Amino acid sequence: MRSNTIHVRPLGACVGAEIGGLDLSAPLAPAARGLVQQALAEHGVVFFRDQSLTESQHIALARQFGDININRFFAHADGYPEIALVVKEPHQTRNIGGGWHTDHSYDQIPALGSMLYAREIPPRGGDTLFASMYAAYDALSDGLKRTLEGLRGVHSSRHVFGVKRGDLDGRIGNYAEATQDAVHPVVITHPESGKKALYVNPGFTIGFEGWTAEESKPLLDTLYAHAQRPEFSYRFQWQEGSLAFWDNRSTWHYAMNDYHGARRLLHRITLEGRALG
Ligand code: SIN
Repeated sequence: MRSNTIHVRPLGACVGAEIGGLDLSAPLAPAARGLVQQALAEHGVVFFRDQSLTESQHIALARQFGDININRFFAHADGYPEIALVVKEPHQTRNIGGGWHTDHSYDQIPALGSMLYAREIPPRGGDTLFASMYAAYDALSDGLKRTLEGLRGVHSSRHVFGVKRGDLDGRIGNYAEATQDAVHPVVITHPESGKKALYVNPGFTIGFEGWTAEESKPLLDTLYAHAQRPEFSYRFQWQEGSLAFWDNRSTWHYAMNDYHGARRLLHRITLEGRALG
């Protein structure tokens, strides 16, 4: 029999936990909200199963954790600019998020995280991988940690969102708004957990401040190869009604593109974060 008591069950060795016993369609009691925040800070991503949310309930849920960031590039759900569509139709070949990245690192104040809710899931495939940047940082040598402490990474959206891609079929737009670059420490201290995390990602980091792209590449490649080690990651299998709430400061994610011919539709709401230090 399923227990209705709230429980947190760690899933991966380093990242991911399932939270059971909560109905996300109703406002959360302060203690329940605190438990979700604590689990998120500790495990990097939390998963909920068997939820039934309207668009308005999804928005109300997100607002309990912060202000909503309206995504300037993604198509949104009809009538709900707060909800970015993460969709791939049966005839489309390219998916959204199909490479390791952390959302919004190109913003001056990167997003806290995102709540991704599954509305339509293919019969097979379409999993999402999450990787812990706490674990990636902890496993670096002391010498490399010392080198990284002084470095700042340059992040950009230009090469991803500033280029019109026919195979995205209008799912991403507003190319002219991909103008800003942001600089953040390569090692951040997470504002809630106080733990250190590696804060560069293959999707959006283009180099180190004061270094050329050529000089930056070898060290970035080393960090990316290290952070992609399977033991730092967890692979989540979606069902309709699943919701993942991840922390963009301490994790990367990667949407698998292995379900051609089937539809996958998720609704994403992203929350504003705080300046990184
Ligand atoms: C994303 O990168 O935000 C989407 C992840 C997914 O579709 O699993």
